Amino acid sequence: MDLAGKVALITGASSGIGATLAERFAAAGATVGICARRADRLADVRSRCLAHAPRSRSWVCDLADPDQVERLAAEALGAFGRVDVLVNNAGIPKRRHVLALDAATVETVLQVNFLAPARLTLALVPQMVERGDGLVVSVSSVAATLSSPGEAAYAASKAALSVFTEVTAVDLWNTGVRTLVVYPGVVDTELFDVPDNDPFTAPVTPVTVDELADAVMGAIAADARELYLPAFFKDLAAGKAADVPRFLEGSAAFVRQQGAGG
Ligand SMILES: NC(=O)c1ccc[n+]([C@@H]2O[C@H](COP(=O)([O-])OP(=O)(O)OC[C@H]3O[C@@H](n4cnc5c(N)ncnc54)[C@H](OP(=O)(O)O)[C@@H]3O)[C@@H](O)[C@H]2O)c1
Repeated sequence: MDLAGKVALITGASSGIGATLAERFAAAGATVGICARRADRLADVRSRCLAHAPRSRSWVCDLADPDQVERLAAEALGAFGRVDVLVNNAGIPKRRHVLALDAATVETVLQVNFLAPARLTLALVPQMVERGDGLVVSVSSVAATLSSPGEAAYAASKAALSVFTEVTAVDLWNTGVRTLVVYPGVVDTELFDVPDNDPFTAPVTPVTVDELADAVMGAIAADARELYLPAFFKDLAAGKAADVPRFLEGSAAFVRQQGAGG
């Protein structure tokens, strides 16, 4: 899709991947609507977008609250008259051993990472179908396909987001509405500073936010349906799918080895 002249709603745009994508979208000629909870950070991002896209707007919104999610969709449609691109980017981590998880925490993670994107998709896709043009981008995670240890709630929320987006693609085939699921590995953002999470210990070299944003912009321009960055994570996911018991056994052995300090 060529983003010039499009209207995009990008969630979680106060920092990290969402903030960078908002600026990239604006520089590519899109009007952007952005949302997050931190008003000051959101205002900074909006002011950088306004340099390219003077109709850009921002909404302070807590996606953990379903009423605020519905209001966001309605207000974006009211302000812009249409939304051509929805970027489901906002997300919270939850690195916590399954024995230390409680149901309320799982519900909150699912609310922010899956149910809010699902609500926004349901609210915004019909007007895309009416115009025969639209794009839903969902920022998932390799955790969705690799069952990352200590991330049961997070990985499940991302798996749900991926599959919901894929089925949306199938149901809307030939309507002009496309989808893109993004599977980042580790990206150097504030996600790893969010409190109330176990330390992140996986020995993975992070990519920069700019590298991820370059790849997402390229995938959108190429009408891709899926993006893994780094690309080798797709091979790991295929390896897991080929032999799930062996993959789970290997993951458990790796966690034991890390716990033993080796
Ligand atoms: N960084 C990585 O290694 C990595 C890897 C795979 C996938 N991802 C995914 O990439 C996406 C962006 O994360 P990031 O790495 O850019 O981290 P980030 O800098 O922490 O960004 C997360 C964004 O989500 C927003 N957000 C969180 N909770 C929210 C809520 N309840 N309501 C509204 N907005 C909320 C945050 O804004 P406020 O705090 O201002 O609300 C922030 O703008 C997430 O979905 C994450 O799961 C990241």
